[in-house]
Amino acid sequence: MNRQRILVTGAAGFIGSHTVDTLLSRGFEVVAVDNFRTGRATNIRQCVKDSGFVFEFADITQEKVLRSLCLKYRPDTIIHLAGLVSVVQAQDEPNLNYLLNIQATHIVAEAARASGVRRVVFASSAAVYGNNVNLPLHETSKTEPISLYGTAKRVSEQILDGHATTFGLEVASLRFFNVFGPRQDPQSPYSGVMSIFARRFAEGEAVKVFGDGAQTRDFISVFDVATALAQAASVTGITSEVCNVCTGRPVSVLEIIREFQEIYPSAPGPEFLSAREGEILHSVGDPAAASEILNFASEVSLQKGIHSLVEVSRPETVTHPRFAPEFA
Ligand code: UD1
Repeated sequence: MNRQRILVTGAAGFIGSHTVDTLLSRGFEVVAVDNFRTGRATNIRQCVKDSGFVFEFADITQEKVLRSLCLKYRPDTIIHLAGLVSVVQAQDEPNLNYLLNIQATHIVAEAARASGVRRVVFASSAAVYGNNVNLPLHETSKTEPISLYGTAKRVSEQILDGHATTFGLEVASLRFFNVFGPRQDPQSPYSGVMSIFARRFAEGEAVKVFGDGAQTRDFISVFDVATALAQAASVTGITSEVCNVCTGRPVSVLEIIREFQEIYPSAPGPEFLSAREGEILHSVGDPAAASEILNFASEVSLQKGIHSLVEVSRPETVTHPRFAPEFA
């Protein structure tokens, strides 16, 4: 059997580790690359027994290192998920944002070119749309990022598009909306609302609502995101594509709270604080292009997605060691 081989950068991270799980379950060979800067060995521990799985401890910003991995394994596709994931940290540390969210993409594109990798799938973000209020957001909507993070994601899309146009690299940039699910870190001040709420409900503490809670986002389960990435790696007909990865359904903060309250009926009520300064009120994407180009549609309902999060949000299950000896 000629199995497709996929190299995943950021493989031990939140989205990366779910992507590796999905790829292995679909029979792909996976070369998982991570340097555990924020990824965790425990996220991919379950993959070690799979004969199609190889782990490489490496920093992909070292150009020679990534190139030699590509020459060693000759992957068909690179799924590039490694990056600086915090919008706030990207703003605070512009150099790190440049290195991890722009330069690293160029290094990936060049490593792909030098080693004959056919396709690169890239983790972009709805942050490229900034405060665009013409909803739903289409791939053709104006991109007007308002953060260094969003700008870097847009620049990376363009770097990859350049390699598509000039070198024939197949490229799919996936613009993730608000991704949530197990293995998302609830402890950082930069964490998404879902992981914060899951943790607080599990600990019996009141959640904090910024504003009146009517603000909406397009929340998509990480299981769906992993499926979209696997599709992007394997479907035919990709040249240079940009696709939203979203549900198309706006969900309010209050609706999320109601879902958690179904699970925790005796939880304390929410505490209402003033709205976050400059925050957008509503964001929702159009999922039509992903359906057409990737044959992908989100399948995990809000309720199911929240249940999967609750299962792993008990206080005793969320503290992972940063480093596990089997990957030393
Ligand atoms: C995301 C980024 C944020 C960035 C913004 C604009 C993350 C986790 N957040 O925010 O850094 O500035 O895009 O690109 O990447 N909320 C509460 N209570 C909480 C936490 C959040 O009410 O304890 C509300 C927020 O005010 C917001 C909604 O929940 O209205 C979602 O928040 P969040 O998960 O941070 O996502 P974004 O607002 O999209």
